[in-house]
Amino acid sequence: MRILVTGGAGFIGSNLAKYLAAHGHKVVVLDDFSSGDFKNLVKFTGEVYTDRCENPPAGRFDAIFHEASITDTTVTDQWKMMQNNLERFRTILSWAMVWKARVVWASSAATYGNRPAPMRESDEPSPLNVYGYSKLAMERLAAKWHGDSHLPIIGLRYFNVYGPGEAHKGKFASMIYQLAQQMKAGKRPRIFHDGNQRRDFVWIDDVIQANVKSLEAEGCHILNVGSGVSESFNAIIAELNRVMHTNLQPEYIDNPYSFFQNHTEADIAAARTILGYSPNVGLVEGVRNYYGSGAM
Ligand SMILES: NC(=O)c1ccc[n+]([C@@H]2O[C@H](COP(=O)([O-])OP(=O)(O)OC[C@H]3O[C@@H](n4cnc5c(N)ncnc54)[C@H](O)[C@@H]3O)[C@@H](O)[C@H]2O)c1
Repeated sequence: MRILVTGGAGFIGSNLAKYLAAHGHKVVVLDDFSSGDFKNLVKFTGEVYTDRCENPPAGRFDAIFHEASITDTTVTDQWKMMQNNLERFRTILSWAMVWKARVVWASSAATYGNRPAPMRESDEPSPLNVYGYSKLAMERLAAKWHGDSHLPIIGLRYFNVYGPGEAHKGKFASMIYQLAQQMKAGKRPRIFHDGNQRRDFVWIDDVIQANVKSLEAEGCHILNVGSGVSESFNAIIAELNRVMHTNLQPEYIDNPYSFFQNHTEADIAAARTILGYSPNVGLVEGVRNYYGSGAM
């Protein structure tokens, strides 16, 4: 297939682009390099377009993976967020209509806000910031587009993705990456009181699996993509201490955020049924792989 990956310089997009290219597809990356990192693309030998998702690359595509987004969840400029996330998605969908391309795209668990876990797609959406709202508006646009085009479109609500290629995200990288950086520097890892906040951490390869399986799906769906289990920050630190052979105890600090998800955990039954998605890598294996890769 000829496949367009937007946000292809980013964490998930670059892993996806490299995976698809290694599996025989013709892959073109589109990115504006606003938050992505060229280093993620050094081993990607396909074509790269530098654009804000305003101008289509030449030729037709069979499928689009739309990962491009503002991923700084603290951006409060609503115009900026909605222009970049919702309006550029509208542009992408207009190209897909012309190309008759299927679309797989990145939504987010941020659409749930502080809903009780486990989160199900049928829950009332409750985003706590404009980032989460932009993803919700994109989901509604995707449903309308499917009604008009009858082309397959699958939105994946990622939970907390971690793995190689996220270093450029700084304070928006996974907590696993951030805590590991502090501990590698010999510092006690800093977390909010009392460290029992829970997150559904999902290893990057499982996210790639969900994307690739979405290429076969029909219809219009919004599906959770997580590991299906949650881990506390205290447990992450214990696991990092184990693989790094350290014994650094957490330093608890006050939480300055007025909005904060205390417990995220995906119910992945729908993705299992519709995609045949089955996450393979739990926390112990993921942290070991990550540390072993040298990218953490
Ligand atoms: N990483 C996670 O845990 C997570 C969780 C939920 C949802 N998501 C979603 O997954 C997608 C990928 O996230 P990521 O973690 O790889 O973040 P990332 O910041 O590494 O990647 C996003 C990429 O999009 C690019 N971009 C932004 N706006 C663009 C535009 N208008 N045109 C072209 N390129 C543009 C950035 O330069 C960057 O390379 C995003 O849509 C994000 O909202 C990620």
